[in-house]
Amino acid sequence: MKILIVGAGAVGSVYAYHLQQGGAEVWLFVRPRYKQACALGIRLYQLNHQRRPRIFVPTGCLTHVDEVAAHTWDQVWLCVSTTALLGSWFAELATGFGGASVVGLQPGPEARALLLRQIPERQLVSGVITMVSYQAPLPGEKVRDRGIAYWFPSLSPNGFKGPARRTGAVVASLQRGGCPAAVQPGLEKLSGFGSALLMPLMASLELAGWSFSELKRGPRLLRALRAAREACSAVSAELGEPPPVWLRLLFPGLARGVITLAPHVVPLDLETYFRYHFTKVGDQTRALLAQYIELARKSGLPASGLSQLQRELG
Ligand SMILES: NC(=O)c1ccc[n+]([C@@H]2O[C@H](COP(=O)([O-])OP(=O)(O)OC[C@H]3O[C@@H](n4cnc5c(N)ncnc54)[C@H](OP(=O)(O)O)[C@@H]3O)[C@@H](O)[C@H]2O)c1
Repeated sequence: MKILIVGAGAVGSVYAYHLQQGGAEVWLFVRPRYKQACALGIRLYQLNHQRRPRIFVPTGCLTHVDEVAAHTWDQVWLCVSTTALLGSWFAELATGFGGASVVGLQPGPEARALLLRQIPERQLVSGVITMVSYQAPLPGEKVRDRGIAYWFPSLSPNGFKGPARRTGAVVASLQRGGCPAAVQPGLEKLSGFGSALLMPLMASLELAGWSFSELKRGPRLLRALRAAREACSAVSAELGEPPPVWLRLLFPGLARGVITLAPHVVPLDLETYFRYHFTKVGDQTRALLAQYIELARKSGLPASGLSQLQRELG
């Protein structure tokens, strides 16, 4: 099994390591400035247990479209953000994927359509990332050497959906390497409503100075939940599926409880992680908010909460 990981950041490095652990030959496609460091090896800290850090050394590191096209791939994993895929580089790169299964992990209502512009549907396996990963150390965190830290939440495997044989192979490749993964028949709903809830909340957290206590205070949380409900209704109309039951239970009191409890369950400083990660992918959050507003307008649904968030975020 020969696999190319496109984008060796927080997510790409973790999948690359576990796919290699599962017996695959794993290559990276990175920007030229990362080539040397990636080729030497990427240090990984798994936070689920306190084992020694692992070093992932790829079979090879590619930086040019021609190099990608010169190989034959079984799988190509796209581990860049939704907004990164908008660049013309991606259309060029995709011409070198041949008949590989292409794993698209990007969030947002337009991600699949964006991928289908370059990837034939019969080759596309969509995925939802359930891990938390970041470039360590976060501010205030101590690690001996820089690397990628990650955590797999229990009972929440990385989910995949697409053509049966290709999806089965993708899931098996990860499972063999010790990464929780499963076929997820309801992937569009899970990913669609999950992102529709998360993006307005993260935009509101940013406006609250990345402070959970500030987010919980006053009308901010109410406004965040209103925007999240609007985004979910827009996704619901687009998918032709009712929002999941748990979304109806998301009252301010319960949301406050979840925000209070979460930092005690997750083995990392969640506030700092959110600040770090959603600053890193800030352009993606803004692009997705704009997409939810557009979707809502298309279906004649309200989007004033989302628009207010968008205005305040700038
Ligand atoms: N990390 C998480 O915990 C997590 C959880 C759920 C979902 N996700 C999603 O997963 C996606 C990736 O997140 P991430 O945390 O892995 O981001 P990341 O750490 O920034 O990794 C993305 C990598 O792709 C590289 N890249 C971008 N454009 C490229 C190009 N044209 N050619 C080669 N490499 C390119 C980036 O390089 P530059 O930095 O130089 O641009 C970066 O190294 C995002 O959509 C994110 O929302 C992440």
